Amino acid sequence: MQSREDRVRIALQKNGRLVGESVALLKHCGLHISASKDELFCRVRELPIDILFLRDDDIPELISKGKCDLGIIGRNLLAEYCLANASEPEIDVVTPLDFAYCDLAIAVPNGRTYSSSKDLDGLKIATSYPAILNDFLSRNGVEAEIIHLGGAVEIAPRMNIADAICDLVSSGATLAANNMRQVETVLESEALLVRRRSKLGSAQEQTIARLLTRLRGVIRAQNSKYIMLNCSRASIEKITSLLPGSEAPTVVNLNREDMVAIHAVCQEEIFWDTMEQLRAAGGSTILVVPIEKMMD
Ligand code: PRP
Ligand code: ZN
Repeated sequence: MQSREDRVRIALQKNGRLVGESVALLKHCGLHISASKDELFCRVRELPIDILFLRDDDIPELISKGKCDLGIIGRNLLAEYCLANASEPEIDVVTPLDFAYCDLAIAVPNGRTYSSSKDLDGLKIATSYPAILNDFLSRNGVEAEIIHLGGAVEIAPRMNIADAICDLVSSGATLAANNMRQVETVLESEALLVRRRSKLGSAQEQTIARLLTRLRGVIRAQNSKYIMLNCSRASIEKITSLLPGSEAPTVVNLNREDMVAIHAVCQEEIFWDTMEQLRAAGGSTILVVPIEKMMD
């Protein structure tokens, strides 16, 4: 029988840009997570893990205080929390997760001229990230007024609340829709797996290690492809030199003296031009297939 203390608590955002991919990533790791939106707590059957769906702003604090053990948050949120808290927070980055790439950026209305950060002097800048913005402004010797808003930052200039904004930009659609343009990148963000700094009991640390192995396997698999092709024995060397990010391809004999099949895991995207080069080097029946999971 497991005691409650043996379980690992993972904090995920209840809503927002990270939810969908965070849940998908954990599902690929073999965790069964019930999708119900109103359920704020989910007990995973396959591993001793509990998932908590929380307001994103609360996650760094709950992890730092040891109320949750792991969490998935954006680098933007972690940076804001660390800069806003004078005492060193007890929270560490375990690994970037290779999704939710975006910039925390300063944007101005299209009508405003801009050549350097000096042009921000004396302006009002609206943001949900006051600590990061304050840090950026003081590093650049800019004196501007920070207007702290909880959301809907992009409409601040139109409402005459601010002259510029500092907000997340992903596709850029929100800026375009609000007639603004990005002029400074303050922080490059992506999703991170974070953990509390203090060590847990050995059972929980083992669970975290298992989860991490799976996570790394899923992320690597997502970035890898399995390639198969046939070629003549004479062209093996040429062909293998063309395979991107593959160390030791498998060469399989075919039912024809002079022909072999080459199978390889490529840790990089395989583009059409690589496939064309492989064909020019004598490859035929070239197949590129996705890999679902990977473990060394
Ligand atoms: C962010 C940001 C913008 C939008 C930018 O909001 O505040 O509104 O995404 O994305 P885009 O460049 O692809 O248009 P988010 O969806 O995280 O929600 P929030 O502002 O309500 O917190
Ligand atoms: Zn927004």
